[in-house]
Amino acid sequence: MTNRCMVIVGSQWGDEGKGKIVDVLAEEVDIVARYQGGANAGHTVHVGTEEFILHQIPSGILHSGRRCLLGNGVVVDPFQLFEEMSELIARGIDAEPRVGVSSRAHLLLPYHKLLDRAAELGRGEKKIGTTGRGIGPAYEDKVARQGIRVGDLRSETRAQALLRAGAERANLRLASIGSELRVDVDGLIGEVMDIRPRLLGLMVDTGQVIDEALVAGQRVLLEGAQGALLDVDHGTYPYVTSSNTTAGGAALGVGVGPTRVDAVVGVVKAYTTRVGEGPLPTELASPLQEQVRELGGEYGATTGRPRRCGWFDAVVVRFARRVNGLTGLAVTKLDVLDTLPEIRIATGYQVSGEAEEITNFPADLEQLAEAVPVYETMPGWQTSTQDARRWEDLPEAARAYLRRIEELTGTPIWYVSVGTRRDQIIPVGR
Ligand code: IMP
Repeated sequence: MTNRCMVIVGSQWGDEGKGKIVDVLAEEVDIVARYQGGANAGHTVHVGTEEFILHQIPSGILHSGRRCLLGNGVVVDPFQLFEEMSELIARGIDAEPRVGVSSRAHLLLPYHKLLDRAAELGRGEKKIGTTGRGIGPAYEDKVARQGIRVGDLRSETRAQALLRAGAERANLRLASIGSELRVDVDGLIGEVMDIRPRLLGLMVDTGQVIDEALVAGQRVLLEGAQGALLDVDHGTYPYVTSSNTTAGGAALGVGVGPTRVDAVVGVVKAYTTRVGEGPLPTELASPLQEQVRELGGEYGATTGRPRRCGWFDAVVVRFARRVNGLTGLAVTKLDVLDTLPEIRIATGYQVSGEAEEITNFPADLEQLAEAVPVYETMPGWQTSTQDARRWEDLPEAARAYLRRIEELTGTPIWYVSVGTRRDQIIPVGR
């Protein structure tokens, strides 16, 4: 890896295996920083026989000596953060001295989770299928300029006043939408005051830390959560998360300028998955749907929900290349396709009102809902790829499949992952 500041970004609907790619690349960097989202993410990393699921702390924490930051664009659930930290510490990882949290990051508090739950119930059949982690309401408070930032905890009186106002406002809102849920205002203030010194101990200016590191010649990874199609601007709105997951959000979400970023790696599965509601044009029919779900262990790391599975969709990844300015792809979970006799790739969509097949991802959800994918079918390789460590080790048919992905998406493949372990990765032509 020769790049100094690299963004790792999910380029489908999340769960592409970013955690594993970040874990592998973290070996070569000094700082790993998250730039958006919160505990809705679930990054699973396997080290030896151990499995770690990280929700807020960047996956780089599993490499000793790496500094791990939560940028200003993250909504930080401090209780969950300390729970995650305690688990890492109990498993022998010196997490606390290496984690830094931006003073500008907004706090995600228990009342945001209540509001999330109540809003989802209120949506009825039109529910988004959120993770229930309070993400939408926390970003709502931020944009409405009524959020609480980590730095606000410096003054005890100011923090208490903001917490009281936030909790009371949440209770009024819960009542107004007919929910019985309520937050215990004084209880919440007490709980936040208890963890306040510990959180203040982690507070940094992430932009300054990253800028100084880059000036000193160090390397930095900016770790995205979720995926491009869940981006609040570019995703399948309203079935999206509430942050800018795409690479444009990276510099913004840690506090450096976009000219600092010199590479953007898009992580994609060798097929497609989605959890929650909303369109998934290449969704598989039964029983292949269940077969791929079982082969890939496709259950949410945060919620345990079964993921919906589909064929690789080149329309989606071509779109992700454009909105992220991808410089390379990391294709994960190739081995999940090892036993299939044939494999399909969507190259375009047929939509009503358009004589020609469209190759651009439509913004209009109604158009997307009726899009019929146009597929190319390729032969499967029906042999295990799990022991491949070099490009040449891959079966001919697997190489042809990957080359076709490169052609259709206009993006070179930099890495191929063939299993959950750290060593099950193939660097391609870098
Ligand atoms: P929220 O981010 O919890 O508000 O959920 C909004 C949408 O994003 C839902 O469809 C979730 O299933 C999806 N989502 C949020 N985080 C992740 C993730 O880490 N992986 C995959 N989907 C996610």
